[in-house]
Amino acid sequence: MSANSAEPRVLPLPLLNHFSASRSAVTCEYRCGNACAHDAPNESDNSYFGDVVRRVMDRRGALRAGAVLSVAAGVTAAAGGTAAARPGRGHGNGHGHGHGHGGHTAVGTDFDPVQPNTRDSVVIPDGYEQQVVIRWGDPVLASAPEFDFRNQTPEAQQLQFGYNNDFAGLIPLDRAGIHNLLVVNHEYTSETHMFADYDPDNPTEQQVRTAWAAHGMSVLLVRRDPARGGLTPLPSWYSRRITLRTEFEMRGPAAGSDLLKTSEDPSGKRVLGTQNNCAGGVTPWGTVLSGEENFHQYFANADLVSDPLTRERMRRYGVGTGSSTRKWERFEKRWDAGREPNESNRFGWIVEVDPHDPDSTPVKHTALGRFKHEGATVRTTEDGRVAVYMGDDERFDYIYKFVSSGRMKNGRSAHARRHNMSLLDHGTLYVARFSGDSPASEIDGSGEPPSDGEFDGSGEWLPLATGDTSHVPGFTAEEVYVFTRLAADRVGATKMDRPEDIEPNPTNGRIYCALTNNSNRGAAGHAPVDEANPRIGNKHGHVMEIREDHDDPTSTRMSWGLLLVCGDPEDAGTYYGGFDKDQVSPISCPDNVAFDRHGNLWIATDGNELGSHDGLFAVPVSGSERGHVKQFLTVPNGAETCGPIITDDLVTVCVQHPGDNGSGPENPGSHWPDGGDSQPRPSLVAVWRSHGHRVGEIGRR
Ligand code: FEO
Ligand code: CA
Ligand code: CA
Ligand code: CA
Repeated sequence: MSANSAEPRVLPLPLLNHFSASRSAVTCEYRCGNACAHDAPNESDNSYFGDVVRRVMDRRGALRAGAVLSVAAGVTAAAGGTAAARPGRGHGNGHGHGHGHGGHTAVGTDFDPVQPNTRDSVVIPDGYEQQVVIRWGDPVLASAPEFDFRNQTPEAQQLQFGYNNDFAGLIPLDRAGIHNLLVVNHEYTSETHMFADYDPDNPTEQQVRTAWAAHGMSVLLVRRDPARGGLTPLPSWYSRRITLRTEFEMRGPAAGSDLLKTSEDPSGKRVLGTQNNCAGGVTPWGTVLSGEENFHQYFANADLVSDPLTRERMRRYGVGTGSSTRKWERFEKRWDAGREPNESNRFGWIVEVDPHDPDSTPVKHTALGRFKHEGATVRTTEDGRVAVYMGDDERFDYIYKFVSSGRMKNGRSAHARRHNMSLLDHGTLYVARFSGDSPASEIDGSGEPPSDGEFDGSGEWLPLATGDTSHVPGFTAEEVYVFTRLAADRVGATKMDRPEDIEPNPTNGRIYCALTNNSNRGAAGHAPVDEANPRIGNKHGHVMEIREDHDDPTSTRMSWGLLLVCGDPEDAGTYYGGFDKDQVSPISCPDNVAFDRHGNLWIATDGNELGSHDGLFAVPVSGSERGHVKQFLTVPNGAETCGPIITDDLVTVCVQHPGDNGSGPENPGSHWPDGGDSQPRPSLVAVWRSHGHRVGEIGRR
């Protein structure tokens, strides 16, 4: 059911509403504890030596603010136009082009782009089919009862697919990719939309325990149907739910630290559960890394902590004061930071799960630092070490890298997996500092490129700690790992516009980071624009491309450039890799990134500020098509697009928080995926080309 076949609802003009955030109040409340409504917690005066400059809107900006803006013209012509773009930055991988619809189209992005729209469905290109693979409440374990929206219980939920799927990873178990392990994060719960009779001031214990069971991760065996397309969950030995009741092992140099000990766990090495798991990555050894992101909001009463140093550390992480949104502190002491001040130190980590072994104890890796981890992705070095790239998703927070000391064992045997999981316990943790190469006076906050045509420059990875050795004055190694943000403040890392997914492109070795937005960039009392974050009040976000020196993941030096400065293509303060902006799909608020086999970058958005629903976009990063953004799908009312997986035959996305635009079960904002008057359910969707053709490759089977 290619949704394009029904009358697409094209947006009325003008599309832009510069004065309202597109994310609904319930999404903001439950996802990140209204982080944007609070002051950004990075109040360090860490402004590095480079080209920072504070400016008010210049003359061009004032003109633009008064201009009438429209978007639709740039969208539909893409397939028929000729690419008049100048070449990229001259470091392309030279992959092939051709066989478009009269113009050039990079292999892998040859599809008719979906127009911006506000339909309550997943809208996909003509010639593609789709299927809901699994929904909130569907069985993960075979003994799960049927989903019953009005009578959910913790006992049922801990056997069923959790809420608000974000990251998804697919791990093939055979060469043809027929049988795969599917691992999905369940980032957070939206209680007002999950329960028919929820009172936010007085949640019941049954509701709270159901929410604990709806968090975490799911592991499933899925079968791809090579004849008809699609992905089917199968009952299997691999099936597993990880929840807030699952035991985790803390590993690495801070495990057992006094900072991690609580009254329940005097060892500082055993933690119950994982929460707010956002993005992640599949490792070369077949495990999954998952980022604990907005953990701060689950805790209450940080203001009651008596020790000023502890209180200040909690403030830097935004740990909650007063009662928490979900009121869990009424049912378990550990969520009360006033009574159990170290419990919040046990969240905010990268966790690693071995989906091949449902009995394995998942790990929290202290060597990867503690912050609001968006996700983590891995690249191997020529000598077998591994680098892990990570973003801290908060306004004015940082980009990190870890490089292991040890070397990877090849293969996915249990022995190799066990060895390789230990790689992430020993190594060096770095944070990024970026310098621009254009005069500071040319970074005027408008988003218009400086006279050299690019927002670009050089950068370095600043070491924070190696094993038990701290590289940060005034910090022990344990303090670096547990209070990583404060250590990074100290060394002068570059304050970024909310680093979301960051991932190495396997085809060209470069690293791509989505910086989703930052309403406070350049505002009074906040960090000014710089060449790496060049727009005042960055509403639409940007995408950074990093090339480490010698393409070596162990290098501490790099060059970088902005591939995309997102937003209305007709706005002079946007940049689409140098491509002709008349031909691109408008993109706003990049969040998750992935790559296809050809090295094209795929980007999922969260919070589109151009009036359309969120979506998934593909963009070549080299050759004459560099920057030619094309929209592949859009998601239903109130939803964001998450966790894209791109294979030759299949694209999957997680549709998170559909219906959050409504007020709850009495007034659902969406009826997706089940239609009629049903309640919305977060779900994973598979999309494939009809008749067995490859995704984005016209005529290829
Ligand atoms: Fe959960 Fe940074 O998005
Ligand atoms: Ca420049
Ligand atoms: Ca995200
Ligand atoms: Ca998001």
